[in-house]
Amino acid sequence: MSDGKAPQKKLLKALAGEKTDGPPIWLMRQAGRYLPEYRKVRADAGSFLDLCYAPALAEEVTLQPIRRYGFDAAILFSDILVVPDALGQKVAFKEGEGPVLEPVTDAAGIAALKSPAGVKAELAPVYETVSRLRASLPPEVTLIGFAGAPWTVATYMVGGRGSPDQAAAKLLAYREPETFQSLIEILVEATVEHLSAQVEAGAEVLQIFDTWAGSLPEPSFERFALKPVKAIRAKLKARFPHIPVIAFPRGAGGMAERYFRETGVEGLSLDTGVSPAWAKAHLQPLGCVQGNLDPLLLVAGGDEMRAQARHILETFGQAPFIFNLGHGIVPQTPPDHVGELVKLVKDWRS
Ligand code: CP3
Repeated sequence: MSDGKAPQKKLLKALAGEKTDGPPIWLMRQAGRYLPEYRKVRADAGSFLDLCYAPALAEEVTLQPIRRYGFDAAILFSDILVVPDALGQKVAFKEGEGPVLEPVTDAAGIAALKSPAGVKAELAPVYETVSRLRASLPPEVTLIGFAGAPWTVATYMVGGRGSPDQAAAKLLAYREPETFQSLIEILVEATVEHLSAQVEAGAEVLQIFDTWAGSLPEPSFERFALKPVKAIRAKLKARFPHIPVIAFPRGAGGMAERYFRETGVEGLSLDTGVSPAWAKAHLQPLGCVQGNLDPLLLVAGGDEMRAQARHILETFGQAPFIFNLGHGIVPQTPPDHVGELVKLVKDWRS
């Protein structure tokens, strides 16, 4: 792409605003516990973070869904919480509990974090995984790098774990906005460093996951979700003008349109709750949209999955579009249902 030629890979074409011969497909969390071959590598690797920091194993689990299903893109196997780990916060993944972090709750905790400039050195094994993948992936498959958005990463850093309402981070943001803003600024810088290093190692597209964007009321959404992603997008554009960015502001609802326009991202990943007809009218004219089949339809399979997948294809398939889910694949998903969905999307033509 950097030689100025038009992109050849399907996913890059869609993000460049071209209509493709059938939409490209990849699925959030396409590598993971629903695959028996993943569970085997995971059991041998030790902890989840050990797996993230072992380039040969992380490469292997990234490739597993590509071999099995022939997706158009591979997403680096890693996690959004490697950034707080690189900033010196203690992060662990506990079986059945998810991530557990030593909470950063005040200005002193923020001041104790390591410099975001050190992220590139701390996360060297992640970039080694990226460069291995760039060499081992089939030529038609696009390599996606990723990071969490500052707001979502901050919810885990401040709360110390996942929570249904992100109360700890919201209360810090409301009671001490300047303190919280200083954490967001550290995360903007760390995220730019982390994503830049992935591009330098061979990532061709970047996705920014803002899983908890939808819990913020409008003024806070603007300050802590929209503005930081806009800043990240601008800094990356200055360094790598040809690398497209997809953002996933989950639950953004009525703010999605402003978010897409103002952040300047090339792709917007839609959550399950977004109406395809509304998104076709209001979001797709602004760029490439991605989504948004309910991950539980992939668990259920059958006629309902096929009908809703076709509805999404028929709504978005005339313009730049990437087929995906509205959130990540869940562990109870039958692998055969994924195969059936991929075949349905690959056989579909507008
Ligand atoms: O295949 C892929 O999509 C790439 C890998 C990937 C993982 N996490 C691997 C993972 C990606 C892109 C993520 C992003 C991520 N991580 C997000 C944003 C997207 C989303 O799903 O909302 C968030 C919020 C996290 C934080 C996180 N990591 C949580 C809350 C958990 C526990 C929940 C769970 O599913 O267990 C994780 C662990 C995690 N990250 C696993 C995987 C495959 C499961 C851990 C295991 O195998 O033991």
